Amino acid sequence: MKEKIIIFDTSLRDGEQSLRTSLNIEKKLKIALALEKLNIDIIEVGFPISSPEDFNAIVNISKVLKKSKICSLARCVKKDIDAAAEAMKISKNFRIHIFLGTSPLHIQSKLKKNFSEILELSVSSIKYAKRYTNDIEFSCEDASRTPIDNLCYIVEQTIKAGASTINIPDTVGYATPNEFSKVIQHLYNSVPNINKAIISVHCHNDLGMAVANSIAAIQFGARQIEGTINGIGERAGNTALEEVIMAIKIKEDLLNVYTNIDHKKIYETSKIISRVCQVFIPSNKAIVGSNAFSHSSGIHQDGIIKNRKNYEIIIPESIGFKKHKLNLTSRSGRAAIKYHMQMMGYNETEYNIESLYTAFLKLADNKGQVFDYELETLAFIDPIEYNTNYFNLKNFDIHYQLTGNIIVKLEVSCGENIRTKIIQTKIGIFHAIFSILNDISNLSMTLKKITLFSEGNKIENSGQVNVTIIYKKRKFYGIGTSHNIFKSFIKSIIHVLNDIWKSQKVFLKLIKNSHQHSLKN
Ligand code: KIV
Ligand code: ZN
Repeated sequence: MKEKIIIFDTSLRDGEQSLRTSLNIEKKLKIALALEKLNIDIIEVGFPISSPEDFNAIVNISKVLKKSKICSLARCVKKDIDAAAEAMKISKNFRIHIFLGTSPLHIQSKLKKNFSEILELSVSSIKYAKRYTNDIEFSCEDASRTPIDNLCYIVEQTIKAGASTINIPDTVGYATPNEFSKVIQHLYNSVPNINKAIISVHCHNDLGMAVANSIAAIQFGARQIEGTINGIGERAGNTALEEVIMAIKIKEDLLNVYTNIDHKKIYETSKIISRVCQVFIPSNKAIVGSNAFSHSSGIHQDGIIKNRKNYEIIIPESIGFKKHKLNLTSRSGRAAIKYHMQMMGYNETEYNIESLYTAFLKLADNKGQVFDYELETLAFIDPIEYNTNYFNLKNFDIHYQLTGNIIVKLEVSCGENIRTKIIQTKIGIFHAIFSILNDISNLSMTLKKITLFSEGNKIENSGQVNVTIIYKKRKFYGIGTSHNIFKSFIKSIIHVLNDIWKSQKVFLKLIKNSHQHSLKN
């Protein structure tokens, strides 16, 4: 029978302590609720003795968590344990997580003690915490660098003292999967009362092996995995829980275990954590990276169209990701072009695949990724028209007045006409530029996202601006580069304006064609 793996999230404790700015209560609540929605079994919400803010946040989170069990961290110090119990007392059912370094390095150079003192402190702290709850987790900090006999002995004694979960952290991400699984195996073979506690692992990612170590530990009996969503945490981070969860799901039969996680919420939760913590997710990040379900090579795209399983081991929709993407690049073949056109509702008889493919390759060679709206435009307007821009920047000026006001002036040619507009603002130069261009173009666009890549420490320095703009529910992407970041921004929007203008031309052309067609019939 498959056994359950308890998922323990420490985004609000180990994750939070690694962030550049600490999270306020509102943000912590948002994360805690998102984790609960994901069905995380245990949420470690903080280290209450560390600050009054942390303590208050834990009190507030205790009030809202209904399904997930709340847990707080404490050193082997009475006042830490009291604070943890006090902060969580609103919850009927909470866990206290006590930790102490067990490796010679930690014992001697950090704690200035000997092993017997560590043992005594651990046992007495667990016994003390028992007055508040029976759910006590004990962590042997730096376990992977602790001599195995010492580790076995402290695990045995802390279980005897009443710890119901024993956590074996690879605190500095030092172990390899083979080494780490041997530690877990050894504990199961040597600790007489091991079956009276759940064995947990908590791996850091310094050598990029946190997820592999966690999976290896499962194979040798660990039944709780600790980590964070997106792998945020000290230094190189913690075990990325979404990766462990999906590895368990995909390899369920091999590992013979399962989790209670609501897989469909993984993508959404990852996005929330990334946004709230302001930790960017690399595009190639497993499971939740924006490229995780994108296929670029022509051979792969053809294979995906024939059968998704050819190149996909995870169905993107199963983690709440909308769908796989076939990136249109110069490596894409005709099959991918036809697929994209079909997704936009075009039948192969409505366009010429050969001339479209030639025009597409030319554009892709020039600019890299080609978007659907560009493909559509290439299919229906000729290359000369495609390369003619309706909107062009003629002039721009930003004038800083002594009063603190800023005057933004733009001059743009729109076909034959030149349009000029001036806006006076206090601080919002980007906003002023966008609203001028919206006005001048008569298009009602919404700025969805702006990313600046600027060198140097001044906003006026050279750089690139990428924008995502919504127009009539459709996404358009613009890029602008220049020696001045504001000019780059203007160029990125003008880029989009021209793309919208071209796609409108296509729209009008298609309407005209269908009108003529219906007149003929
Ligand atoms: O990495 C670690 O050892 C920890 C402990 C407090 C569990 O975070
Ligand atoms: Zn840690």
